[in-house]
Amino acid sequence: MKIVLLGYMGSGKSTVAKALSVRLNLPFRDLDQEIEKFLGASVAEIFNQKGEIFYRKTESKFLHELLEYKEDFVLSLGGGTPCYGMNMKFIEQTEGVRSVYLKANVAELSSRLIKGQDQRPLIAGRSEEDLMEFIGKHLFERMPFYERANHLVLISGKSVEQLVEEITALF
Ligand code: S3P
Repeated sequence: MKIVLLGYMGSGKSTVAKALSVRLNLPFRDLDQEIEKFLGASVAEIFNQKGEIFYRKTESKFLHELLEYKEDFVLSLGGGTPCYGMNMKFIEQTEGVRSVYLKANVAELSSRLIKGQDQRPLIAGRSEEDLMEFIGKHLFERMPFYERANHLVLISGKSVEQLVEEITALF
């Protein structure tokens, strides 16, 4: 089985996916990292130099390639991956893929994302107040995509270990 973790920026997808992969003894893959490795540039650099549309096309191409692999793995997506092109449909329709939405509330996401904004081009340079308002609207737009995941896990107040146990019990 391929397990795909999705959710908004700052919801802990990469951290939880990595720990889950250890627990399940499966390889860990991270979509943003795959793209960064292939292009030899950070996500922020790619957005700045080539633009978001280029990034979204690349993201979609890499998602398709990864899900078509024969090997199983735990994959963390970028926050926007399910919301562009036909990506979510592809995740839903690919055999052997199970998706998990790591759901967090706006206040939690804002407090996590206020640090390290520079690495995330969509929120870079926003004040704390502006960030909260932006996340509120953005999450509202993205929620219909995230909620198409096979499973929903609330992350509030839970440790990485607890989340790993909770997700493991789903399968
Ligand atoms: C994005 C989220 C980022 C990265 C890019 C765009 C988004 O991934 O793919 O900056 O559109 O939400 P993380 O969710 O891992 O920060």
